[in-house]
Amino acid sequence: MKSKGVKIGVIGCGTIGTGVVKCLLENKKYLQRHLGFSLELVRVADLYPRKKRDVKIPSGVMTKDSNAVLNDPEIDIIVELVGGTTFAKQVILKAMKNGKSVVTANKALLAKYGLELHEKAEKNGVDLYYEASVGGGIPIIKTLREALVGNRIDAIWGILNGTCNYMLSKMTDEDLTFDEALKEATINGYAESDPTLDIGGFDAQHKIGILASLAFGQWVPQNKIYVEGIEKVTDFDIKCADEMGYVIKLLGIAKVENKSISVRVNPTFIPKTTMLGNVKDAFNAIEIDGEPIGTAILTGLGAGMGATSSAVIADIVDIARNIASGSAGRLSALTFMDKELPFKKIDDIKTRYYLRFRVEDKPGVIAKIAKALGDRNISLSSVIQHEPYSETKNVHATFMTHLAFEKDIKAAVKLINKFKEVKAKTTIFRVEAD
Ligand code: HSE
Repeated sequence: MKSKGVKIGVIGCGTIGTGVVKCLLENKKYLQRHLGFSLELVRVADLYPRKKRDVKIPSGVMTKDSNAVLNDPEIDIIVELVGGTTFAKQVILKAMKNGKSVVTANKALLAKYGLELHEKAEKNGVDLYYEASVGGGIPIIKTLREALVGNRIDAIWGILNGTCNYMLSKMTDEDLTFDEALKEATINGYAESDPTLDIGGFDAQHKIGILASLAFGQWVPQNKIYVEGIEKVTDFDIKCADEMGYVIKLLGIAKVENKSISVRVNPTFIPKTTMLGNVKDAFNAIEIDGEPIGTAILTGLGAGMGATSSAVIADIVDIARNIASGSAGRLSALTFMDKELPFKKIDDIKTRYYLRFRVEDKPGVIAKIAKALGDRNISLSSVIQHEPYSETKNVHATFMTHLAFEKDIKAAVKLINKFKEVKAKTTIFRVEAD
């Protein structure tokens, strides 16, 4: 056991960095009682060292120079919290080369370079931990790496973006429009500085890629993940979903079916009676279907200073224990399968669909649409036609299908969109109901 404690260097002292530094300083005695040795915050680097922060950092700790931290021979663990994928990658590689274990919250970096970073960690005999990268305070990475490691996981899916969940909840429960909901999410500090990362589904793409890689023991590159954001979700679709017993959630979904992997992010109809259907506001939730465990669901706050710094501290403690027992870098979190499974294209997935057609209100239109679907072997589970709206005399007809292949849905809808009675591009949402 290291008698002098494990030494920490933090690079990047924004909101999360400040939360981590605060916890390391203010909970020092508490952490020491848990560990049996101390965690010493040695250096903190930030481009703006003099910025006012909600923590008193001891003199001599703060620096503008990240190299002063990376090259400090005393430091055992580097906490990378600068964000972005270029400088952050350089920081991590240099830390590893210098024999230091790394904690990061950087989901974009891991999604892009995770395989390379795991290999570098293994080569350098150091740990790479990243609990805060997915689900904020929810211990999902540790759960996959340790608690469920004995399972064959067939599916992992869930609500991975708090901003989108907040917006969809406001649209559902308070009848806000998309723009009003986005404004509120931004005011409350949920959205990324570039909110297209959230609403376009890209933040969830990073996260489901990391989760699927850990769950399936096979690296899932970002270009194998199909992504649709929530931009097309209207208040009208939310009302239709409600009428049919569903809510719309942005889900990251990864499944192994028929010996191939499908990974996607899309706004999804799920029954409002399910646990995930009741996870609201900025909360995240992740469901895992494995053998022998069956189904497990974890939920909690997916972002914010408290949740994220809690996850970073947990990683620091884990690595500190490894260092203290001489076992840092003993195993990569990715243990590869003998044979890598192929990835399924979106056209080859089979799921249920919600289709909303805007059509002229005249005899035979619904029958014509139903026939085009039937000709592609698409069976309907329900059909609702709403009263004509406005002076156009158009009606919305919403169809719920049974399981169908995506390529058949696309082909049928392409044909239907050409019917003269169809007055707008058909809205399609995937449904997870079984
Ligand atoms: N913008 C992200 C979200 C933050 O809304 O979930 C956490 O990754």
